[in-house]
Amino acid sequence: MSLLRKKTIEQSIADTDEPEYQLKKRLTAVDLTVFGIGVIIGAGIFTLTGRAAKSYAGPGIALSFVLAAVCCALAALCYAEFSSTVPVSGSAYTFSYFTLGEIFAWIIGWDLLLELMLGASVVAQGWSTYAALFLEQIGLGWPESIGPDSSVNVLAMLLVLVLATLATVGIKESLRVNLALVAVKLFVVLFVIVAGLFYIKGENLSPFIPPSAPSESGDVTITTPLFQALFGFTPSTFGVMGIISGASLVFFAFIGFDVVATTAEEAKNPQRDLPRGIIGSLAICTVLYVLVCIVITGMINYTDINDEAALAEAFRSVGRPGFATLISAGAVAGLTTVVLTLMIGAARVVFAMSRDHLMPRQIGKTHPKWGTPYRLTIGIGLLVALVAGVTPIGKLEEMVNIGTLAAFTMVSIAVPLLRRRRPDIQRSFRVPWNPVIPILSALICVYLMLNLSLETWLRFAIWMALGFVIYFVYGYRKSRVGHEERTGESTRA
Ligand code: ALA
Repeated sequence: MSLLRKKTIEQSIADTDEPEYQLKKRLTAVDLTVFGIGVIIGAGIFTLTGRAAKSYAGPGIALSFVLAAVCCALAALCYAEFSSTVPVSGSAYTFSYFTLGEIFAWIIGWDLLLELMLGASVVAQGWSTYAALFLEQIGLGWPESIGPDSSVNVLAMLLVLVLATLATVGIKESLRVNLALVAVKLFVVLFVIVAGLFYIKGENLSPFIPPSAPSESGDVTITTPLFQALFGFTPSTFGVMGIISGASLVFFAFIGFDVVATTAEEAKNPQRDLPRGIIGSLAICTVLYVLVCIVITGMINYTDINDEAALAEAFRSVGRPGFATLISAGAVAGLTTVVLTLMIGAARVVFAMSRDHLMPRQIGKTHPKWGTPYRLTIGIGLLVALVAGVTPIGKLEEMVNIGTLAAFTMVSIAVPLLRRRRPDIQRSFRVPWNPVIPILSALICVYLMLNLSLETWLRFAIWMALGFVIYFVYGYRKSRVGHEERTGESTRA
């Protein structure tokens, strides 16, 4: 079945030596961890926490974060095994090409583009809201006609274009800017935790899990989670189901540790440093998130939480507007790195796909001096700027989640398959208790997907259908592996 044609691991590794498609190997374990934290902490904690606590879980939102973290930790182990064994750009896309076959690789690549490009656009819009708020707080306005609430969001577009230029000029340079912004962001998150501790009121945290309540209309609507609609539960919020729905939403806050794997080819010592970067950044963020949730829902009753800018507004509500300004500044810095890193990740995935000729090969060429896939990076920048600037995608985090969860599921399934098929290759990091952990990881991911709304599933189906059309019209026919299979010639040096 040529839809299931596979690349060999050796072919994948040989590709990284092609002169026209070479990336510079410059990143260390610290770079990778900072890169990870840079992309993980963002709109999820700064804005979604409020929405999820208010609508789904109350103070129990901390448990939603723990559940989402468990799901991510299991998937992170699988990512760590793959990326350290085969350090090739493209992450889950590349892993599935040599384990599950081309059609699955395409599906994953397409999912990853949804995750990374839509994610960058969503976060850029979130950034513009905070940036406008911050400018206002320090007394410098921004014309409303080109702000976050207007039909053309110039602020978001400007951000994306500046960051795309940076990512084009060099990965190390991008990471230097990243480092400074990550430091500001970490400081602000720690500040929220420490300063917020003094304002916690025990009564706000009780009951920790508010009793389950039927959702407003009681009927199945487009926003009902698929699981409830399929199995005939009465749609409800809060209670245990609320915690699970909350986890499906705040899963967004963890997205990004997998992006570390997309830069595998640029790591100096991938075997040792990728597992450290992936697992380290995830662990640090989980601890911070749970503490932030407890503090915020302790400071203010969940029913009064602001669902746009929960962290800043919690301090304003306790009479600390100065702290709120500081937090807005931290959010501006924090969301900047998320947008930058998601775009770098998107460029690496398309880069890998173009090297396999599933996307036009010309677009993947790297720049002789900068060592980055510059055409792609610019193209992705323009696309993300357009989507962030003129489309109403501000609340599409769930779409990003579904694409990511689908990719995590496939990567998890691929681990035991590759162990069986290629026991011979050296693995510097191994998922413990294989196949139990990978299977559990896949099951939890699917379960969280089922808890996403019907409308998210519908949009996802449309996105996937579009992907299949492009694959059959273009990728299937042009595929480099397919060409080699048909002609028996190798196109590799
Ligand atoms: N995890 C990233 C965020 O929360 C995508 O913004």
